[in-house]
Amino acid sequence: MIDLKTPAVIVNFKAYREIEGDNALNLARICEQVSEESGVSIVVCPPITELGVVARNVSIPVLSQNTDAYAPGSATGWVTASMVKSTGAVGTLINHSEHRSHNNVIRECIGLCKADSLTTVVCAESVKKANEVAVFAPDFIAIEPPELIGGKVSVTTANPFIIEDTVTSIKEINRKISVLCGAGIKTKNDMAKALELGADGILVASAVVKSKDPKTTLLNLISFV
Ligand code: G3P
Repeated sequence: MIDLKTPAVIVNFKAYREIEGDNALNLARICEQVSEESGVSIVVCPPITELGVVARNVSIPVLSQNTDAYAPGSATGWVTASMVKSTGAVGTLINHSEHRSHNNVIRECIGLCKADSLTTVVCAESVKKANEVAVFAPDFIAIEPPELIGGKVSVTTANPFIIEDTVTSIKEINRKISVLCGAGIKTKNDMAKALELGADGILVASAVVKSKDPKTTLLNLISFV
């Protein structure tokens, strides 16, 4: 497992048309360039179809958008931790609001990822869920209110307390877990506010992936870090 430097900006490419085919590597290279120019820790999550080519061609950390709780073997269509590791990716999101799992699956997935030294970023839609998954000792927990994902209003504005409450609660359970936040984050003020509220970084998708100029958008986003 690598130590993802914080504060971290995790760019989740999701399944947007803008990142299909070679465009995923093109965007990853922009994120790499901004990270190198700024010194800010930027991490990318390309779709599984581009995970290997991105992981082999950029120097910044690459995460899978999901990993399934299956061991290597007769498992058709599932993505194992071992497969993610073999691509050169260094970790994975788990339980993103758009790809949810039951707690027992999350627990098993974290165990399989740890066995393959993959960094685990478990997403949670509420403080309650964050507390439930914290006992499985992921490396990161990302609080993301689903109703704000992809929207115009940042979680740091719409619901700052969910960030503060998650940070406080998770630190009481396991101080080693870093807390991230995401949903609607678009500007340098959103990023600055997230850090002010105690988050160790953010997850961002549409503001960067759907931007006409992702480099400028990303440079602006991190300009207060
Ligand atoms: O994983 C981060 C993502 O869910 C946030 O999406 O578009 O609100 O930045 P967005």
